[in-house]
Amino acid sequence: KIFDNLKQGSVFIAQEIAGIIRRKQAEGKNCVLGLATGSSPKTVYAELVRMHREEGLSFKNVISFNLDEYYPLDNDALQSYNRYMGEQLFNHVDIDPKNINIPNGEWPKEEIKKYCAEYEALIESTGGIDVQILGIGNNGHIGFNEPGSSRFSRTRLVTLENSTRIANSFEFANISQVPRMAVTMGIDTIMKARKIYLMGWGPMKAPVIQKAVEENVTEQIPASLLQQHNDAIFVVDEMAAAEL
Ligand code: GLP
Repeated sequence: KIFDNLKQGSVFIAQEIAGIIRRKQAEGKNCVLGLATGSSPKTVYAELVRMHREEGLSFKNVISFNLDEYYPLDNDALQSYNRYMGEQLFNHVDIDPKNINIPNGEWPKEEIKKYCAEYEALIESTGGIDVQILGIGNNGHIGFNEPGSSRFSRTRLVTLENSTRIANSFEFANISQVPRMAVTMGIDTIMKARKIYLMGWGPMKAPVIQKAVEENVTEQIPASLLQQHNDAIFVVDEMAAAEL
């Protein structure tokens, strides 16, 4: 779906999410959201906060799972996705804090496999993700699933590409401060979501959006694997759609 600008595209996604939350509420069920960080979803979160304040949208039945987190990183570090989610969304809505799940940059290294397996088990125990939102890295990564990630990967510790560390270095004092690793949901974890919205805004994303949507499905462009999902929608603005 191509929108004139990111505001319109973000409002569309927020309305879709709100619709699912409300429908599930009416059925007396929980709504399981898969959430993303980075600059792309900020306007979606702002719109959800506005809907909470002005239209009474409640998050009481929402269970959330975030895609990823730098590793290692303190939860209260400025760049932490745990901190980001509080600032952008969770501190401003009525979600129950015990329903918030985010990979943790403080998980002890020697037990990280156990924590990752528990994260997967927790997602499954909720009945699975109803709607997952995604940004996209310039190299086609989704979450922190870098090129070459297996289609069957699950939540795990990964090594970041140097290009990703450079792209994200603006958040840190300098490149050496950017963690070399991250914990991320896997491609398979993402593909199990019942509905997926991937956002791409601005001219920088145009080449990778074109590759992911129009070229071959390949693990070298992780977002291209979404072509094999039966309900994945790329939501882009005119600039990100420029090469389609
Ligand atoms: C980061 C995140 C991804 C995000 C991507 C794009 O590395 N781990 O989840 O989608 O970069 O970021 P942005 O939305 O800021 O362009």
